[in-house]
Amino acid sequence: MKKTAIAPANIAFIKYWGKKDEVLRLPSNGSISMNLSGLTTTTTVEFSKSYKKDLVTIDGLVKADEEKRVIEHLDRIRNMAGIFQKAKVVSLNSFPASTGLSSSASGFAALTLSAASAAGLNLSERNLSILARLASGSACRSIPSGFVEWLEGTDNNSSYAVSLHPPDFWNIVDIVVIVSREKKEVPTSAGQKYASTSPFFPVRLSRINDKINQIKTFMKEKNFLRFGELVEAEALEMHAIMLTSQLPLIYWQPETLLIMKAVQNWRKDGLLVYFTVNTGQDIHLICEKEFIKRVKTKLKKIKEVKNIIVNYTAEGAKNIGRHLF
Ligand code: PMV
Repeated sequence: MKKTAIAPANIAFIKYWGKKDEVLRLPSNGSISMNLSGLTTTTTVEFSKSYKKDLVTIDGLVKADEEKRVIEHLDRIRNMAGIFQKAKVVSLNSFPASTGLSSSASGFAALTLSAASAAGLNLSERNLSILARLASGSACRSIPSGFVEWLEGTDNNSSYAVSLHPPDFWNIVDIVVIVSREKKEVPTSAGQKYASTSPFFPVRLSRINDKINQIKTFMKEKNFLRFGELVEAEALEMHAIMLTSQLPLIYWQPETLLIMKAVQNWRKDGLLVYFTVNTGQDIHLICEKEFIKRVKTKLKKIKEVKNIIVNYTAEGAKNIGRHLF
């Protein structure tokens, strides 16, 4: 059967950095995110006797590293469904992959839903989220809709994501600022392994549940000021762990820092916008909808800014009828 799914990337407000179980991808802590309307992956999967091996193309190319992870995931799904047929997988990103814009989250969420449906499995949202997590941790957060919490859990069945609020709950946006198309040197899944080597990691973990509760309260109250302050402080804390781990990881480029400084200066002039950054040079600016125009005008004056993508809060992964082949 042939099935197609579309899934959004997501931006974490409280981050997932570090695992307590490598194989099951159980995170060291829970995390909170929002799905992004402008960063999506569409994937079509077909299982058929006519394929002699798995055929995987991403953005029109065969990519050895990604292909291996995709085939491992297809194997998980074939095992669950009790089928043996090989598959054709065609996947298209709406944005540049592997530059820190979470293509693995949207990619593996779309693959999970399309492949599970094509294999004839009818999984609950919870079980889809668990399955997506096994392929890429943050992908579990791209299954439910809107504003999402990944419950840390203690074993395979208790670590999954749930929707906290639907997409239209709060008028906030994530403006992605692309400053470079360079690929990151250390992929996220490799970088995650170093988290626990930072001397500050235990301190982070001792405070993280309080932070999760705080951000949930600020979201519920729609208290943008306190929310933004916490989002920015959390991004800097995660990067403090990266900078002080063995291997030290510096994911920023000079342009990333330039935008961070600019954002802090704009705030002094009353423009309420905050930044967050993942494992790449590109930076996410969070503000309320009414400020989009002002933020864009400011960004357009900075020559290092290559592209801007405005993201509204999006639904989670869903099946669609339009196939890619
Ligand atoms: O799911 P992964 O292995 O791509 O890890 C995502 C890690 C961060 O983007 C840095 C943080 C997060 O919670 O999304």
